[in-house]
Amino acid sequence: MYLAQQQHIRCRRNFKVILCKILFIVRIWEAISYKRVFLLMLNLLVRAVTIRSMGNLNDTDCRGRSDSGLKVLVSREEIAARVEQLAAEITDHYGTGEITIVGVMTGVFVFLADLMRNLSMPIRLDVVSVRSYPGTSTSSQGPQLTLPPKADLNGRDVLLMDDILDSGHTMKFLLDMFSASNPRSLKTCVLLRKTLSQPVDRPDVDFFGFDIPDEFVVGYGLDYDDLYRGLPDLCVLDPVEDAG
Ligand code: IMP
Ligand code: MG
Repeated sequence: MYLAQQQHIRCRRNFKVILCKILFIVRIWEAISYKRVFLLMLNLLVRAVTIRSMGNLNDTDCRGRSDSGLKVLVSREEIAARVEQLAAEITDHYGTGEITIVGVMTGVFVFLADLMRNLSMPIRLDVVSVRSYPGTSTSSQGPQLTLPPKADLNGRDVLLMDDILDSGHTMKFLLDMFSASNPRSLKTCVLLRKTLSQPVDRPDVDFFGFDIPDEFVVGYGLDYDDLYRGLPDLCVLDPVEDAG
């Protein structure tokens, strides 16, 4: 009888010890979970603050500058969406065949880089440089080729890319020159097509991003006196600021 009581007491004690151990493990597990939740919340908070401050940075990068002489004409989101559509149009035309893109430096480089990354056919790339206003001249003396193409364009499907079609002198000059190399096909693509107040005899383009009014635009690769090329949006220079 005594032994049975002793065994019963030992059994209860063992049961209590096991219960304590289980509770201890549960507490530790809870603590770890709380810590995880706390760290997760902290992580989310840090991310939210970082994203917010990045948004502010972008604002001051360009949109904030609209107050200081620049007005956004085409936003970076609109450009990105249109570049994707344009790439689809170009792909519809060429299919999966190889093309040779010749970019007119320097204004086209941002547009070219974005468009190329939306195209999946094999692409050979070349660049040329054209100066429209040599030296300190303010009136066009006709385009001059300052960097000729390196590639032999004979028999190739050539896509000539420029930032903007303005008077069309540059495009006409390059089209005449490239046609002489006997490419298999020669097409043109510009990001912007200026709507001129005076009608001019200029070549039309095969692919374009946006029709814009007759204003001087900067950003997304385009410059004024070699400035503003890095702006993510296409902006119009405020004529009042410009004059000053
Ligand atoms: P074109 O008058 O069509 O021959 O254009 C000559 C070049 O002038 C273009 O390739 C651009 O680099 C530059 N250009 C024309 N309009 C603008 C503008 O509004 N902003 C910046 N560059 C321009
Ligand atoms: Mg140019």
